[in-house]
Amino acid sequence: MIRRITPADCGAIAALEARLFVTALDQARLMVLQTNPVFCGFVDLVPDQGQPKFTPADDFASYLGGYLLAMMIDGEAEILSIGVTPDRQRQGVGKRLLQYFFEHGASQNMTRVVLEVAEDNVSALGLYRDFGFVKFGRRKGYYKQGNRKIDATMMKWCRTEAFP
Ligand SMILES: CC(C)(COP(=O)(O)OP(=O)(O)OC[C@H]1O[C@@H](n2cnc3c(N)ncnc32)[C@H](O)[C@@H]1OP(=O)(O)O)[C@@H](O)C(=O)NCCC(=O)NCCS
Repeated sequence: MIRRITPADCGAIAALEARLFVTALDQARLMVLQTNPVFCGFVDLVPDQGQPKFTPADDFASYLGGYLLAMMIDGEAEILSIGVTPDRQRQGVGKRLLQYFFEHGASQNMTRVVLEVAEDNVSALGLYRDFGFVKFGRRKGYYKQGNRKIDATMMKWCRTEAFP
């Protein structure tokens, strides 16, 4: 099941972010972000887990399949982050979250979506391409992994190009 993010989800999402990304959004930033009127975010729930309580940071895997964080203003959206719990990856959770996001976007007359992804992130690049995202730019050395710097690939989805 997918539903909108609530404040009770922020601890678990922060814990998953910290697991997946070197530079992660922490719980305090997520709590502020989800109050922003242009924020749009969803969680995918592990089946049969009921309503989460304020989940301890190390217990995210018990109910969280994944999450998607975005901002949407006047039909233009930016995906800030998408993550899937490691032992649930490659089981369609990411695809389900993006599908849900696009269905929500259609109801908001969404015409354009942009995002950044590390140029060596094969799984995310594959996911975005499947949804019709195309490259339109690059940010040099945008991500840091230890001493290594990795370029960001900038991708966009435009409704007019996806559905001419
Ligand atoms: C990227 C991520 C969100 C994908 O979610 P997922 O649930 O594992 O992906 P899905 O099972 O829904 O797969 C959807 C498509 O993504 C691509 N994909 C996913 N994992 C892949 C992999 N390991 N290798 C190649 N392509 C992959 C494929 O195109 C796949 O379609 P297919 O199964 O029909 O081939 C997930 O791997 C993740 O959380 N990664 C770590 C965090 C991250 O990098 N987020 C993106 C930041 S920009």
